[in-house]
Amino acid sequence: MSKNLYAVFGNPISHSRSPEIHNLFARQENIEIIYERRLVSGRLWDSLQQFEKDGGLGANVTVPCKEEAFAICCELSERAELAGAVNTLIRLPEGWRGDNTDGVGLVMDLKNKNALHSNDRVLILGAGGAVRGVIAPLQQSGAQIFIHNRTMEKAENLAKTFSCNAISATELNNQTFDLIINGTSASLNGQLPHISDCVLAQANYVYDMMYSNDLTYFLRYAQQLGCNNTFDGLGMLVNQAAVSYSLWRGFMPNVEEVLNHLRKLN
Ligand code: ATR
Repeated sequence: MSKNLYAVFGNPISHSRSPEIHNLFARQENIEIIYERRLVSGRLWDSLQQFEKDGGLGANVTVPCKEEAFAICCELSERAELAGAVNTLIRLPEGWRGDNTDGVGLVMDLKNKNALHSNDRVLILGAGGAVRGVIAPLQQSGAQIFIHNRTMEKAENLAKTFSCNAISATELNNQTFDLIINGTSASLNGQLPHISDCVLAQANYVYDMMYSNDLTYFLRYAQQLGCNNTFDGLGMLVNQAAVSYSLWRGFMPNVEEVLNHLRKLN
């Protein structure tokens, strides 16, 4: 049986920066942890059985396992219920408690960057699982949320669920936003989400929930249009990880220190 064993589950998983981030948190707490990447090639449930046998205390869950994680927990936090997805598993004697720290991680990062204020008009691009997880925490910060998606029906469904606004391409053209967040997976295929240059160019802040070592395709495009305040999702990643870590261990890591370290490595 291993001591202080944690892991991130997903597929693919070899690119995950979570082990690096959580080991830096453990160093801050002055303890030793083992944090593994575990590839889920079948059901998450099967992979978790082995993890339980190995003595795993907590886990992160990433694409495409967040919905299955939601389904198999014996207990869920309110924000996981709202998101319909789980990114953090906490070991209980009777099973797994599921939480979702993605939304709170995004809000913490935006606030640290002074990019989110009460009453801000926030446009979210995309209406998939990643977006569903962040709407309620953004609303709780007082922002007014607009959702635009390539498939309008999905944006309308989310808008109904969260009592916010779905906005079509035509309606978008007369509007301005304080913050535009890319929550689509378009950049995975080297594509840009649908948004007119003029709407993007007028935003005070532009955020991409994706991150990569180079500037993301979306942020490069925004910069070419003259947007100065552009941020990628590395800050969201480290903040959501910090909240997960605090749920497991009761120790809240210093996020800035870890972010500075990771940026130096890039
Ligand atoms: P995730 O878990 O990352 O949110 P998802 O649930 O598959 O993944 O959702 C992907 C989102 O990115 C969707 O909103 C999708 O738009 P559609 O609902 O129209 O499919 C959006 N998306 C993916 N590729 C896109 C592209 N090339 N242009 C615009 N939107 C795109």
